[in-house]
Amino acid sequence: MSTTLIEVRPAKAADATAVATTHDEAWRSAYQGIIPGAELEKLINRRGPQWWDSAIRKGSRVSVLVFGDRIAGYANYGRNRARSLYYDGEIYELYLRPEFQGLGFGRKLFTAARRDLGQSGLQSLVVWALSDNESAVEFYRGLGGRAVARSSERFGTKVLDKVAYAWQG
Ligand SMILES: CC(C)(COP(=O)(O)OP(=O)(O)OC[C@H]1O[C@@H](n2cnc3c(N)ncnc32)[C@H](O)[C@@H]1OP(=O)(O)O)[C@@H](O)C(=O)NCCC(=O)NCCS
Repeated sequence: MSTTLIEVRPAKAADATAVATTHDEAWRSAYQGIIPGAELEKLINRRGPQWWDSAIRKGSRVSVLVFGDRIAGYANYGRNRARSLYYDGEIYELYLRPEFQGLGFGRKLFTAARRDLGQSGLQSLVVWALSDNESAVEFYRGLGGRAVARSSERFGTKVLDKVAYAWQG
């Protein structure tokens, strides 16, 4: 019998390539057909290994979920960026590689990020998702998030609605 270790830990600079690949795969599968193709390519290409290496070295908070020797997903988070919303923390991104979705790993990453934010005094929390990203919307609702704000974002010629889910501290 073999056991596979599953852990959530802070990303190291050596994880940059694996996080970039995870970002690439997850964004392609989540946003194809939602974000126009050329824009999606730009957004993905901007976030290569160098971008992640620099973010991790600068101390941005990035956690990875490791399954055996593979990075299955990541979350990055910190202070809430939208001043008009009175929440302390924000999960900026939370993504799993397609083959690791639907196994409870998203919940694990979310719980770890929330705990980490809480430990640094950021108790309440907000997350934005594109309204068309149904699995993300269902995921955040399932985790008890309350829809508290709506906004929109332009991707090339397309304007997409987004919704903020929040959790009180
Ligand atoms: C959205 C995402 C992070 C969810 O992670 P996951 O590991 O697949 O979700 P989990 O298995 O941890 O599910 C947690 C809960 O959310 C619910 N959920 C997750 N995906 C769902 C879906 N597509 N439809 C309905 N409910 C869903 C589950 O029912 C589960 O509830 P339960 O624990 O009570 O059974 C992951 O699928 C992902 O990375 N998707 C693509 C990228 C993305 O959209 N990221 C979010 C951007 S804002």
